[in-house]
Amino acid sequence: MARTDFQSPPGTRDITEPEASRARHLVALFAEEARRAGFERVITPMFEDVGVFVRLGEASDVVTKELYAFEDKGGRTIALRPEFTASVCRAFVQHRPLTPWKTWYEGPAFRYDKPQKGRYRQFDQLGVEVIGSNDPDIDTEVIALADRFLRRVGLTGYTLIINSLGDFADRPSYLSALTGFFESRAADLSEQAKATLAINPLRVLDSKRPGDAAVAAEAPTIIEYLSDDAAAAFERVKNGLDALGVPYEVDPRLVRGLDYYTRTTFEFASDSLDAAQNALGGGGRYDGLVEALGGPAEPGVGFSMGVDRTLLAADAEGVLPPPATAVDVWVVATTPGTEGLALVEELRRAGIAADRAYDGRSMKAQMKAANRSQSALAVILGEDELSAGTVSVRAMRPDAVALPSDTQQFEVDRPQLIETVRSLLS
Ligand code: HAM
Repeated sequence: MARTDFQSPPGTRDITEPEASRARHLVALFAEEARRAGFERVITPMFEDVGVFVRLGEASDVVTKELYAFEDKGGRTIALRPEFTASVCRAFVQHRPLTPWKTWYEGPAFRYDKPQKGRYRQFDQLGVEVIGSNDPDIDTEVIALADRFLRRVGLTGYTLIINSLGDFADRPSYLSALTGFFESRAADLSEQAKATLAINPLRVLDSKRPGDAAVAAEAPTIIEYLSDDAAAAFERVKNGLDALGVPYEVDPRLVRGLDYYTRTTFEFASDSLDAAQNALGGGGRYDGLVEALGGPAEPGVGFSMGVDRTLLAADAEGVLPPPATAVDVWVVATTPGTEGLALVEELRRAGIAADRAYDGRSMKAQMKAANRSQSALAVILGEDELSAGTVSVRAMRPDAVALPSDTQQFEVDRPQLIETVRSLLS
């Protein structure tokens, strides 16, 4: 027998109201902040040639374990995007827009992660990327935008952590110092950390296993190995954040989960989420990524926020109530013709949010539905009104409408309805 017990796949969710509207509201707040800062929207495909994402790092879980990759019917190896940065760089290389190219985006990303609270296989990100400028002031502006957005949401319980990973040229001497250190402490490292060490010792700094973390805490830091150039750029970013009054902490062990980062890296950690998934978002510079994708040697910087985590943090802090989703007018019509249908359509065509009950319910049942709907007004049409050429207007939430007198219900001539409703709602 065919299966009928379907559930949403592990790590995915059906998001219903009021959460669905709340998520949309969050994106709208971000869109406004991004626009105010001169960013244009970009919409890239949800899937790409797998090669686009392989640059994210041969030692990062996002590529080695979590990629949703498959062969399509045309024999191409495709991957669902695990993030947006690589796609935006691919789009830059393909279209060569004027630089600096400042874009923002939002949408779902996919990682075969271990599902738990705040960690899903399909999750939403929003973020920005700036391609084509080395100016460290852009790093500061990008961080300030993320901070402004989180404040706008109403969040206060989070910490901005910053670091500089230097240029790729700064890496070899640091990596050999780091490798030497970890090798000397191999006995204290997990098997996984030892395997990672062979591929990318930086990632060992990011290990969440307590034994590894204790060793990492004593490891040499990249800050000591920065070139003069990278060190000056990092100073400029810190001075910029100081000048803007954006609080931060420097953590020389912040390496982030993707391999493309150079120079400035940062993360926003929520104080109210579990430590394993307390990152609201993060980002940094990726000065070699555009080139690695076949483009010119254009630098880049950006960040992404997890929409789901930002909403969880908002829950924990009791901010960002869901926006009202009720319609303004509930049409109650008990006549057997198409009058109810026409009435609701007329309201909608006039730009007024309206709804009604179906299935020929009684007046009483329809009034109950009107009440439940939380709409501000009910427009009532029965046989009496129909023959008199009127409709009755009733204030369901008198506090939400501008009533001309203290009568809660009155009749208006049918042609006056739209005008009356508009003035009541204004
Ligand atoms: P990321 O740190 O991998 O960075 O992800 C950014 C944010 O996405 C995380 O801080 C988290 O809030 C959210 N996130 C990641 N994985 C999951 C998951 N499985 N479930 C729920 N939320 C998740 C990036 O993606 C980079 N592209 C950021 C960037 C932009 N760097 C430069 N530009």
